[in-house]
Parts: sequence; C-alpha cells; structure tokens
Amino acid sequence: ELDPATLMKKQVGAAAAAMVKSGSIVGLGTGSTAAFMIQALGDRLKSGDLTDIQGVTTSFQGEVLARECGIPLTTLDMIDGIDIAIDGADEVDPDLNLIKGGGAAHTQEKLVEAFSKKFIVIVDSGKLVNKLNLNFLLPVEVIPKALNPVTKAIERLNGKVTLRMGVKKSGPVVTDQGNLILDVKFANGIDNAVELEKTLNNIPGVLENGLFVNMVDLVLVGEVIDGQPAVR
Ligand code: A5P
Repeated sequence: ELDPATLMKKQVGAAAAAMVKSGSIVGLGTGSTAAFMIQALGDRLKSGDLTDIQGVTTSFQGEVLARECGIPLTTLDMIDGIDIAIDGADEVDPDLNLIKGGGAAHTQEKLVEAFSKKFIVIVDSGKLVNKLNLNFLLPVEVIPKALNPVTKAIERLNGKVTLRMGVKKSGPVVTDQGNLILDVKFANGIDNAVELEKTLNNIPGVLENGLFVNMVDLVLVGEVIDGQPAVR
C-alpha cells in the first residue's frame, strides 16, 4: 500500500508517461518521481498501448530501472534529437525555472533535456516556490582538482558553499561522471537565474550547475487533496 504522497508521485508520473507517443525518442529523468514515469512507460510498452520508443537515460540509476522496465535505450551519439523529455525537479519558480540536482544527476539531465524538443516537469505542489534557493541548495558539479578554487570563486559571489557528503559512505558524494557536488546557498535566494547560471558555468572547473532556465514547456503538478492524489 502506497501512502497518498507516493501515490500522487505515481499519478503524476503516469500522467506524463501517457503523453508519450509511439515511435518517439524519450529523455528519461532521474529521481523518485521520474522513476514512476519510467515504470508507467514500461507498463504501456508491455500492454502494447505504446510501441517503438527509445529512451535516453540521465543517470546510472535511471539506466538500471529503464532496463528492468523493458524500455529499449539509445544514446545521444546515435540520434539527431529527443522528442520529449520528462523529469522531476527540486524547485519550480513562477517563470518555470528550476533547481535540479538533489540526486546529483543534473549534468546529464540538462544535457538530455536541452537536446529535447519538449521538456515536461513532474513535481508535487511542495516543489512550487516564489523564489529559487530560499529553501533548496543549488547543486554545482565540480571536477575534484578544482574543489578549492571553485569554492573560493563561489564565495566571492556571496554563496555559502557545502561539499555534499555521502550518507552510507565516508567521504564526499561522487557523481556518475566521477566529480564532486557543491551545494550553494545565496542569502536572499536567486534574483537572476539567467545570469547566475552562466556566471557559475564560467568558473573554470565547474562542469554544470542545477539551474534550468527557459527550458520547460509544461509542468504537471501532483497534489494530495482530502487524502486523495490528484494531478493538475
Ligand atoms: C536529480 O539530480 C534531480 O534533478 C531530480 O530530478 C530531483 O532531485 C527530483 O527528485 P524527486 O522526484 O525524487 O524529488
């Protein structure tokens, strides 16, 4: 038995999976909400409701799951573009700009989602915010040798920097690319996401930051109303 919040993630994942058309190349996001979408795509393939899709994954974990669900996979080297990408997010602002990377997967996610004609975001209503970074830290992937200079450069931008540490591991989180994650907090949140995304990515040693600006076509929001899951 799933609790209402989990059931809601499942519904919003299924609603997004229902928008995928046969024959399309699909960008598969990472995280607990995207996992339900991947399972729903697998179910549609098994039932014969959906045919001839190819997935492009955004993490090691997503690849394992997609294989388990029987989704044929391809890579960015093999294709000219992606038709539709679907992923969760950590925060969504009123301009539909995002913070992503809570699962340290934002670099491959941005790569795949920027290469997609359509990008659909699936979140619960708790992820909707008026301003980014007031509550959720901004993840920045940095190559290990650049840890100290990048930390200092972000501190000069008035960001408070924390190296993300492993939970069941002693030492830092290591990304699928073998890099480190800095979680960054700006005291008053992020005022200009467009500028900050570029500024951070221009620091030598930064691979990618978790700001996704002007990329989203549609946000599906899941809610629990009177104990019942719903999508709007
Ligand atoms: C992965 O790095 C993130 O960008 C995820 O998309 C994000 O953390 C959302 O995950 P949940 O759906 O588990 O909240």
